[in-house]
Amino acid sequence: MCGIFAYLNYLTPKSRQEVLDLLVTGLKRLEYRGYDSTGVAIDSPDNKNIVMVKRTGKVKVLEDAIQEHFSGVEYSEPVLTHIGIAHTRWATHGVPCERNSHPQRSDETNGFVVVHNGIITNYNDVKTFLSKRGYEFESDTDTEVFAKLVHHLWKTHPTYSFRELVEQAIQQLEGAFAVAVKSKYFPGECVASRRSSPLLVGIKTKTRLATDHIPILYGKVIPRSDSTSEFMPMEEKEVEYFFASDASAVIEHTNRVIYLEDDDVAAVRDGTLSIHRLKKSLDDPHAREITTLKMEIQQIMKGNYDYFMQKEIFEQPESVVNTMRGRVRFDGNSIVLGGIKDYIPEIKRCRRLMLIGCGTSYHSAVATRQLLEELTELPVIVELASDFLDRNTPIFRDDVCFFISQSGETADTLMALRYCKQRGALIVGITNTVGSSICRESHCGVHINAGPEIGVASTKAYTSQFISLVMFALVMSEDRLSLQQRRLEIMQALSKLADQIRAVLKLDSKVKELARDLYQHKSLLIMGRGYNFATCLEGALKVKELTYMHSEGIMAGELKHGPLALVDDSMPVLMIVLRDPVYVKCMNALQQVTSRKGCPIIICEEGDEETKAFSSRHLEIPRTVDCLQGILTVIPMQLLSYHIAVLRGCDVDCPRNLAKSVTVE
Ligand code: M6R
Repeated sequence: MCGIFAYLNYLTPKSRQEVLDLLVTGLKRLEYRGYDSTGVAIDSPDNKNIVMVKRTGKVKVLEDAIQEHFSGVEYSEPVLTHIGIAHTRWATHGVPCERNSHPQRSDETNGFVVVHNGIITNYNDVKTFLSKRGYEFESDTDTEVFAKLVHHLWKTHPTYSFRELVEQAIQQLEGAFAVAVKSKYFPGECVASRRSSPLLVGIKTKTRLATDHIPILYGKVIPRSDSTSEFMPMEEKEVEYFFASDASAVIEHTNRVIYLEDDDVAAVRDGTLSIHRLKKSLDDPHAREITTLKMEIQQIMKGNYDYFMQKEIFEQPESVVNTMRGRVRFDGNSIVLGGIKDYIPEIKRCRRLMLIGCGTSYHSAVATRQLLEELTELPVIVELASDFLDRNTPIFRDDVCFFISQSGETADTLMALRYCKQRGALIVGITNTVGSSICRESHCGVHINAGPEIGVASTKAYTSQFISLVMFALVMSEDRLSLQQRRLEIMQALSKLADQIRAVLKLDSKVKELARDLYQHKSLLIMGRGYNFATCLEGALKVKELTYMHSEGIMAGELKHGPLALVDDSMPVLMIVLRDPVYVKCMNALQQVTSRKGCPIIICEEGDEETKAFSSRHLEIPRTVDCLQGILTVIPMQLLSYHIAVLRGCDVDCPRNLAKSVTVE
């Protein structure tokens, strides 16, 4: 999805060239979110105007254009205070082109320029209103109405401060958005706001900040001349601010951030940050906390790997341990999930568990449903967030709803969360992103602690979501005598998991050979059942999104009800056949395929000669308890899709048309 990055230096000399470098680097950190055009805006050398450069395509294209556009002494001279804004756009309204790229502007003189994420749903009404007042629109975007509305308010309310103008504008707008605004009429100032789309402010000072919070100011519009008191001066004078869609863009500059909440308006004037809200409700806090990010810069770098996805696949022996760290006590056979521990009695009394997510996160729910049913003895319903909303699904006060999301910002999942919360259900968030909307809006939850996932294709987040849900099932069954043997078996298997993942990763070169056999084909069918059905769905999703090949995850039990018609000697098939309770049924399916001249690649257990005998191509994985097999079987799928994508020349980390964090419905 789109990415915002804005940088403000106050009494911190920086040349425009340095500012541009910072903006471009910020955009590079946000590239993984998915985008199709880019843009920046900075002050002109005489400080009287705003200059914009926008390009279709990658940040590199913008970088080259910037080099061409800005050169000479005036760009290398230091400026004491300055604000630059930048954006990566993922097209929703209007095709990717320079005209539709952000920043969008208020008028030909670039009076106000705006970068925006999300969708303004009532933009047509606002456009009609502004058109009647003489505004002419030059783009197809919804964003342009925002810039022009601020301009209109500025003309009609000459006493309003910059912050008040933005505040008035957002009150007229519906939909989801995060914005950062710059104006030639308010030099050195920046105003930013969010509603249902993430935005944070990074703060960098020479010494540690004297405060760990920024007070929130509530109240009505006050004239610009009287509004000085709203700014709470910080003790430090020299300061830099970074406004960004996510922490990966600011971590190399500062680890001190404020996550803005919906309808917060953050404004910087004279180097001081203020956070304002128009109305105060009873439970509103008095301040926004400054959080210290735990993320390390190395975590968002590729290191020796060619792609982030490759790095993230190979990080799984460590990421699964991080998910369990401090929670699982292998010696005492116990598990504590601090984020939900106080809610366990309530969860045990619930009517049913609902697991809701999209894409890979949804698959982690499919993968663990059977174990949850077994260990909680509760009905477990698994839902795709988008479909769940389409159906107006009945939700009850005694439902417990899990919202699973790597980013914690997926719009469909977030909307489903709000829908369930309104109906009184208990909301449990399973996310990888601390401070994300799903995190903050849940009653309780589990951070999966997989570390930043940059590749658009989700890999390590899946295995960590899987383990988080397994841990939850184990917590729920702690006092069930009849389940103790089963729990013990799972706990022992969890303790061996990291080494077993390492063993599976050693199959990499073998998987690469298989990828060579497959990469020129049009399709790949992936079959399995029971605990491995989720691997089939997830494997097929990985192949589709990364390689643009058709792929389908097929429940082996459904084979004879239709998909078998696809099988012949040329259709690539991959089958997962492990020694678990559905082994005999999987063998039947395997025979149905081979007797139609199918020549499947088989994923089987180490040393299973009988199964291997059915095909010359197989991958052997270590034996583990049935309910954790899916963690080991998904890794060859991740590697296979990765290698096919490389062989087909696809953009592994940023597949076409996709975004890392899907913040639009
Ligand atoms: O951030 P989320 O887990 O909520 O994202 C959900 C899906 O958009 C995501 O898993 C998507 O399917 C991945 N690109 C798959 O690799």
